[in-house]
Amino acid sequence: MTDPTADQALLEEKRLFPPPPEFAAQANARDPEIYARAESDFEAFWAGLAEELEWFEKWHTTLEWTPPHAKWFLGGKLNISVNCVDRHAKGSRKDKPAILWEGEPGDVRTLTYEDLYREVNRFANVLRGLGVQKGDRVAIYMPMVPELPIALLACARVGAPHSVVFGGFSAESLRERINHCGAKVLVTADGGWRRGGVVPLKKWADEALEDAPTIESVVVYERIGERAHISMKEGRDYWWHELMEKAEPECAPEPMDSEDILFILYTSGSTGKPKGIQHTTGGYLTGVYATTKYVFDLKEDDIYWCTADIGWVTGHSYIVYGPLANGATCVMYEGAPDTPERDRFWKIVEKYRVTIFYTAPTAIRTFMKWGDKFPNSCDLSSLRLLGSVGEPINPEAWIWYSSTIGKNRCPVVDTWWQTETGHILISPLPGLIATKPGSATKPFPGILADVVNDQGESMPPGRKGYLVIRRPWPGMLRTLWMDDDRYRQVYWSRFKTMYFTGDGAVRDEDGYFWLMGRVDDVMLVAGHNISTMELESALVEHPAVAEAAVIGRKHEIKGQAPAAFVIVREGYVPTEHLAFELKNFVAHKLGAICRPDDIIFTADLPKTRSGKIMRRLLRDIAEGRVLGDTTTLADPGVVASLKEKYAGDET
Ligand code: PRX
Repeated sequence: MTDPTADQALLEEKRLFPPPPEFAAQANARDPEIYARAESDFEAFWAGLAEELEWFEKWHTTLEWTPPHAKWFLGGKLNISVNCVDRHAKGSRKDKPAILWEGEPGDVRTLTYEDLYREVNRFANVLRGLGVQKGDRVAIYMPMVPELPIALLACARVGAPHSVVFGGFSAESLRERINHCGAKVLVTADGGWRRGGVVPLKKWADEALEDAPTIESVVVYERIGERAHISMKEGRDYWWHELMEKAEPECAPEPMDSEDILFILYTSGSTGKPKGIQHTTGGYLTGVYATTKYVFDLKEDDIYWCTADIGWVTGHSYIVYGPLANGATCVMYEGAPDTPERDRFWKIVEKYRVTIFYTAPTAIRTFMKWGDKFPNSCDLSSLRLLGSVGEPINPEAWIWYSSTIGKNRCPVVDTWWQTETGHILISPLPGLIATKPGSATKPFPGILADVVNDQGESMPPGRKGYLVIRRPWPGMLRTLWMDDDRYRQVYWSRFKTMYFTGDGAVRDEDGYFWLMGRVDDVMLVAGHNISTMELESALVEHPAVAEAAVIGRKHEIKGQAPAAFVIVREGYVPTEHLAFELKNFVAHKLGAICRPDDIIFTADLPKTRSGKIMRRLLRDIAEGRVLGDTTTLADPGVVASLKEKYAGDET
């Protein structure tokens, strides 16, 4: 780590927000003993939570830990769809809404637990009818419609690991993921609505499938209708509604072993191709169930809304599995926050009387920028808890969230976790922990997090280091799909028996954790992981590009924005038009979220004497900071000219 001292501004944040007494009095976690109890025997702590779930057969061993591989609840048999659907539908929650859905154009649907049971069973039979068996992979590329969680739960019911690909990813990204996991079936839709326009999912899926030999069938949910202008391929493509009509209403759930795979979800790594994060059944469900219950303080009457897309892990864990395992009523919204107006989210909160609201700092900063009049024009009095996830939340945004949205009544839970961790690992328990704006506060009970230096030694308060997790937890990734070597190398090679998160962090005198962003070459753009390497590889595929270096520069709304330093090939002229073309090229190749904000043409790149691009310097340049030590540079002149160029030539 180049800079061992913490960002002083952060540690000078002294405001403390104790849990409101009326909240603390009713909280699911209100006995501070929970921390000591979990610490004294973390296996027993998690086992106690697992016992609240429904198992076909109980486990015989809670944990087997042979670093870097963990197995939880060995010998246990369960099915996640039974836990998320059947046990509510067959009990007192039969008529309770599971999903309150609102489409972007304003259409609405309510699915009770009984409705969800019926749909999940039918779709599970559809999958079986298409030849899907336990262990077969199913790729899912859908808009935010109820059929998306239905598809996930149906996969879980038949024991087919799902791999959801975010609908904003390109055809090429979809193809890469389908081929990597060898999916047999693709579930998609004719399109989705976004800001009044159609997201042409089926068209992109068709493009992806031009070279995806493992896909045998495609199920297409009709969301848009005629305006989607799609074509169906005979013998491969089937309409969701046609298959559902013919499907039997009951589908026996597959008894899954605790360690059977539930899903594979791809996330960007600092090098090379996306990593297929592999999650299993028993531990993952226990982790998401417990964290939803205690971090979000979920109660029977809550109306819970997580605004993420199910294409990301936040949606998997905290729209689908965690809340439904708790029998919650979840709001689900299809579209953009500013359609038709910038008050759409607040209108939804008002209309459904949302009590728990979970979103990302990038959204919060956008709302701040839009101004208070939008939230202030709606009745937000139903809210009682606010959550944040995806990137560090700056204290200013935290305070705005707490006051303008939460009216200084609602605790704010800043939740730190990753696709890899499966569930929240660092977050306040809202009835017990006093919060500080910008800090994710303390590890969840049973989680042993630490901040260490390069040697793996714990850092004293105020000293920046690497965030590591010192002992296994139930929802941790088990490995990377088809690449255990990379799993070992990425997460377990730096510190042999500690999980390396890739994040920098510092603890303060009170033991609170302050997250400081990635220490590797991963950017957090609007809370989404994007690899600088992936963008660089995409750029150099363009004929005009000889070399490219990409960094994440600070961005007021998105947290970070990709900035690309590009050297053009002989014969090409660096023009504004070319910059525009390159941005589109990347967006087309990888998806719109990867589109670089800046293209900076340069004649050279700052490199160390051993030829490594000095990204730190590029970041300093892009953020207009005073340059640090450049003595290891092969040609320090490059930096000076780049700095000048960036200031005057940003496109
Ligand atoms: O850098 C951390 C940041 O997001 C990364 C994980 O990204 P992803 O796997 O896409 O999962 C995002 C949703 C869980 C982390 O390594 N991150 C996530 N939440 C926070 C955060 N950084 C600071 N504070 C958070 N609350």
